[in-house]
Order: sequence, then structure tokens, then C-alpha cells
Amino acid sequence: MSMNSIAGYTDIHTHILPGVDDGSSSVEETMQMLTAAYDEGVRTIFATPHYIPGRRNAGVEHLQEIYERICREAETVLPDLNIYLGNEIYYKDNVVNDIKSRRALTLAGTDYLLVEFSTRSEFNKIFQAVRSVTEAGYRPIIAHMERYGCLYKKERLIEDLMDAGAYIQINTESLVGNFLDRQAAFCRKLLEEGYVSFLGSDCHDNSLRKPLMRQALSKLEKTSCGEQIRKIMTENVAALLENKWIR
Ligand SMILES: [Fe+2]
Repeated sequence: MSMNSIAGYTDIHTHILPGVDDGSSSVEETMQMLTAAYDEGVRTIFATPHYIPGRRNAGVEHLQEIYERICREAETVLPDLNIYLGNEIYYKDNVVNDIKSRRALTLAGTDYLLVEFSTRSEFNKIFQAVRSVTEAGYRPIIAHMERYGCLYKKERLIEDLMDAGAYIQINTESLVGNFLDRQAAFCRKLLEEGYVSFLGSDCHDNSLRKPLMRQALSKLEKTSCGEQIRKIMTENVAALLENKWIR
């Protein structure tokens, strides 16, 4: 086995915790989603419930309790599945204070955090957000970057964000599509050219928004995207969990 072969996929963006956001609605559904993820080859999964400033969010203690319960349930049926806790944080001014005071969670207690924006955000807003998060000492991962209109086919702007300290996450589903699907082609290009640091399913349930992973990646691994997928799933995930810089 070569050093870079993938022992299992890591999904850094999911809504698997029950009853805390618009994701899973019950422990049963959560277990179905975790089993589906496992069958998709996932061995490390981050629960990232929405945190939206100014809305009623599940409190951190509550999240921790539910997370621990799900870990116990999963332990018996999927003993080699690693589950970590974080939030998908909707960016608003001053949200950094919520992170500092632990009302919003980073990924697995590291300095990495998954941050999302309004899909109609202007580039400058996203850029300033990246600056304010990195200046506070955190490492922002921009969730489903392909959704932001201001970044579509704008590699130069994406590079500006990366130079400012941002990492890019793309949803696996967005990579799937034939050659006529321009967005999928753009996402695959970003992946191939090393713009993408993390992949996530952004699963919300086990029907319409499933924990898709192998179905989206196995064919791509045999293409010019393969090397980057291996880097994401090995080096990048290891760096995140060890809270180190990604090369
Ligand atoms: Fe999400």
C-alpha cells in the first residue's frame, strides 16, 4: 500500500446530528445516514450543524450531548467510523466573538472552521470575512465554494482568498455531471488544479441529500483529479486533525 493510498474517505461537511438543524430529524435517520456514509467508504465524518448568528441555534452543551450519544450508538455498529463535532458557521460581522466564546464550534476543537456565506455575497464581503477570521487566529474553510456567484469561473479571486488564508471546500455532488454541465466541469478543474483542500457531502438526510462520496469520487480518482483527491483525503485531513498548516 503506497503512503498516499486512501484508507477511507473523510467527509468534513454533514448535517447528521438529529434534531439540531434542517438535517437529520431522528436518531434512526442519523444511523441510516452514518451507515450510508460508511457504505460510501467514509471512515471519518464531521458533524457540522448550522450555526446562524441571531437565530435560535442548538447550544454547544446540547450539541455535545447529542454528539456523544450518536458516537455511542455508532460505536456498536460502525466501530471504525470516527466522528468529530463542529459547526457550519454562517458568516456575519462579529461572528468571530461567538467562536471565541465557544458559542459556535470550530472543527474538532482545531483552529479550522467551516464558514458559509449568502450565495449572493459580493467578493469583497467574503474577502473581508476571511481577513477577520484569519486575523483572529482561525483557519477558514469556505463551505461549498461553488455556490457563490461572485467566484464562478474566477480563479484569480479564489486565489486571492487562498492567499488571505482561506481553504476551499466543494460538495461532492457538484463534481458529478457530464461535459455539458459547466458547473461540474468548473468544480473538477478546481479540484484537478489544487484549489480544493476539502470535500464534503453536505448531506441533510438519506434520500434527496445523501452522504454521497464514493459514487462521486471513484471514477474521478482514475483521472487527472486522482492525485488531488488522494492529497485531500490523506495529507490535508491529517493536517486538519493535527491542527497544522496544509501545504
Ligand atoms: Fe451545510
